[in-house]
Amino acid sequence: QQTKGNENNRTITEMWLVTTKRKAETSSMLSTYNCYMAIIMDAANVDVILVGDYASNVMAGHETNLPITLNQMIYHAYSVIRAIDRALVVVDLPFGSYQSDPKEALRSAIRIMKESGAHAVKVEGGAEIKESVKRILAAGIPVMGHLGLTPQSIYKFGTYTVRAKEEVEAEKLKQDALLLEKLGCFGIVLEKIPANLTKEVSESLTIPTIGIGGGKHADGQVLVIHDLLGMTHEFNPRFLRRYMNLYEEMG
Ligand code: KIV
Repeated sequence: QQTKGNENNRTITEMWLVTTKRKAETSSMLSTYNCYMAIIMDAANVDVILVGDYASNVMAGHETNLPITLNQMIYHAYSVIRAIDRALVVVDLPFGSYQSDPKEALRSAIRIMKESGAHAVKVEGGAEIKESVKRILAAGIPVMGHLGLTPQSIYKFGTYTVRAKEEVEAEKLKQDALLLEKLGCFGIVLEKIPANLTKEVSESLTIPTIGIGGGKHADGQVLVIHDLLGMTHEFNPRFLRRYMNLYEEMG
């Protein structure tokens, strides 16, 4: 099969509408990092493909997502973009490419958009990255937020367990979600937070929330394709629904 270049059947506007205006319906988002997996997902009508920095773990075998570089993210995003006809493709800005100052954040986001052809970027954090988010949005680049267990801060958290169980952290998360919406983000990933907090945040926003490990109340859910297909057999969080067990079947 030929890869399809960048000639989308659907316009960017149509894709944008699917993800931003359809809060009432559940939308699907899956993470992948290569061309042929993206071809399958696109044909299966997945709404949003996330080229996440979890590629650092599942593609390169690192323990965390910190080592992956901007160039490597662009390579993965470029491979996915060339495969798709219809899905909206969101790409993670990797650790170190946007936290230091807003100008660097914008330069990194522009590189992703220009060199991969992606449609939007995703960043982790709230108030602390406000100026960077503003600057990227001001350049016309759609931004998705990511709150809760933000894996780029794993060495601050020290564990991948549920965040925002305490009132102070939960309150900050609620404020950050409202801030990201006010700044103009088109959606927010909520990772590993209590289900009642996912519900409260989702109800307080007009933009969609996409959950992972945060219960059923987010507007959509995201999973990583390697986890969903059972390739990462040693990764067994409670929230993960495996649809296959490729590790066993191929082994
Ligand atoms: O990197 C990634 O794929 C992600 C999802 C797990 C939300 O950020």
